[in-house]
Amino acid sequence: MKFFIDTANLEQIQEAYDLGVLDGVTTNPSLMAKEGIKGTQNQREHYIKICEIVNGDVSAEVIATDYEGMIREGEELAALNPHIVVKVPCIADGIKAIKHFTEKGIRTNCTLVFSVGQALLAAKAGATYVSPFVGRLDDICEDGVRLVGDIVRMYRTYDYKTQVLAASIRNTKHIIECVEVGADVATCPLSAIKGLLNHPLTDSGLKKFLEDYKKVNG
Ligand code: E4P
Repeated sequence: MKFFIDTANLEQIQEAYDLGVLDGVTTNPSLMAKEGIKGTQNQREHYIKICEIVNGDVSAEVIATDYEGMIREGEELAALNPHIVVKVPCIADGIKAIKHFTEKGIRTNCTLVFSVGQALLAAKAGATYVSPFVGRLDDICEDGVRLVGDIVRMYRTYDYKTQVLAASIRNTKHIIECVEVGADVATCPLSAIKGLLNHPLTDSGLKKFLEDYKKVNG
């Protein structure tokens, strides 16, 4: 499984990269706003900074919601750096835009996906990634991880090459559950990735090893 970090914060991206397990980054307009990145030029410079840290895919989301606007913006974003994956919302014009980008060899991430039907359209349009939002479904008492598994099975049945990118991951348990249902990628907050390390038996085992070493070695 690939790990992406779900943030536009450069320090967190660097920390995840330094851990040696980072495969990419996802951003969205809310995450960019959280970092105070205002204006098209600043946003584009920020995407380039992210691409310079990470040797992997960096999702940059279009703001336009009409076909022509998405094409224009997506092509500009893709031209910034070869790592850029154009993130497009799962709406009718978005599916048309994904088809266009696929034909032009521009990689895409179909975002805001909440059903198997939406994931089917994204795959038929040739999306590189599809992003089912796990946490937001859980927030409304639906089962986000089950949707991830349903999409994985549907893609395997029909041999679609679109990768299932579990998004809106809120915690470490979500990551493990997405592993169990076969997600290709999970995009996670840094805290959820670091949470994978935690186990009390690791801590107590290491403490005992060091105590025993000191007993004989001083
Ligand atoms: C990433 O691609 C998504 O935009 C992101 O995971 C959404 O997460 P949220 O539901 O926590 O905002």
